[in-house]
Amino acid sequence: MIRRAVPIGIGHYLPDRIVPNSEFEAMEGLDTSDEWIRARSGIERRHFAAEGETTSQMAIVAARAALDHAGIEASQIDAVIVATSTPDLTFPSVATMVQAGLGMDGGFAFDVQAVCAGFVYALANANALIVSGQARRVMVIGAETFSRIMDWTDRTTCVLFGDGAGALILEAQDGAGTTDDRGILATDLHSDGTHRDLLYVDGGVSATGTAGVLKMQGKEVFRHAVEKLTKTAETALEKAGVSVADVDWVVPHQANIRIITGTVKKFGLPMDKVIVTVQDHGNTSAASIPLAMSVGVADGRIQPGDLLVTEAIGGGLAWGAVILRW
Ligand code: UT7
Repeated sequence: MIRRAVPIGIGHYLPDRIVPNSEFEAMEGLDTSDEWIRARSGIERRHFAAEGETTSQMAIVAARAALDHAGIEASQIDAVIVATSTPDLTFPSVATMVQAGLGMDGGFAFDVQAVCAGFVYALANANALIVSGQARRVMVIGAETFSRIMDWTDRTTCVLFGDGAGALILEAQDGAGTTDDRGILATDLHSDGTHRDLLYVDGGVSATGTAGVLKMQGKEVFRHAVEKLTKTAETALEKAGVSVADVDWVVPHQANIRIITGTVKKFGLPMDKVIVTVQDHGNTSAASIPLAMSVGVADGRIQPGDLLVTEAIGGGLAWGAVILRW
């Protein structure tokens, strides 16, 4: 018998405002087109938070949906981890705001900042807490308001990102220690800080005292993405003791349809085994994987017992993969 971190509930939230590519087409001086955005990224629309709507507010709605799905109360959660690079405030953490928002009077909460790889990092942390016996139930959330750190004059970035939140509850359950166990079977994390200039925000507390805006060398990030995502997913599968042929669903970070198709092709998997939401959500950074997973569960594609591969890469660079049996 070994302890596994098993998913028991998932939910998501997307802000009401849907922004189609045509809105960017209409922005004077931006010089972009629906055709370019679709062809180069696969994005057709994204959601933007309303004025005054914050990351923690979105995270709380997603968390409530996950609690409903699991059929448990917030008081039964021991730990809240929020993956975000766009917190409401510099501190306290979004996770403690979620803790309070859910009415929890116990447990502990903290944020993880690994940009687009944040949810994968948060899953690995939650798994470690559960496997080591420090928490029985962990609420793992990815929540972002990237619309707040866009340079609206930079067509190479502002058309790509969106806002939203997804929440997954993991629970300690006994497994047989085989690859048939439900729950997290393996995690694989990496970062390389020498690539900081490829994707960063040009402001922050100690450097400028401002929030800053996102800067990205898209082509370079793209080049790293396909290679590193393929490698980390393969390593994670190997650690889990399963093969690509065993995979039911790839739930990738949703940055660009061309990165997704390129990576999946390298695995040798068909696209009908991939949950794709980039067309509707854009790149929601740490929220993209739990959003996609929640959509896949809600529409019945992801079923109990299915083997999932999640993988993500983003600023840092930071990247990684998690193998999870639903
Ligand atoms: O989630 C975090 C990780 N981030 C990513 O994974 C993003 C990775 N990168 C990408 O997804 C892609 O590189 C982009 C979607 C950002 C860009 O696609 P690309 O095929 O690499 O295009 P490019 O940067 O090579 O640009 C091609 C052309 C350029 O014009 P010239 O120099 O060829 O004349 C750009 O100026 O497209 C131009 N361009 C645009 N044109 C219309 C760039 N952005 C736009 C735009 N509308 N929005």
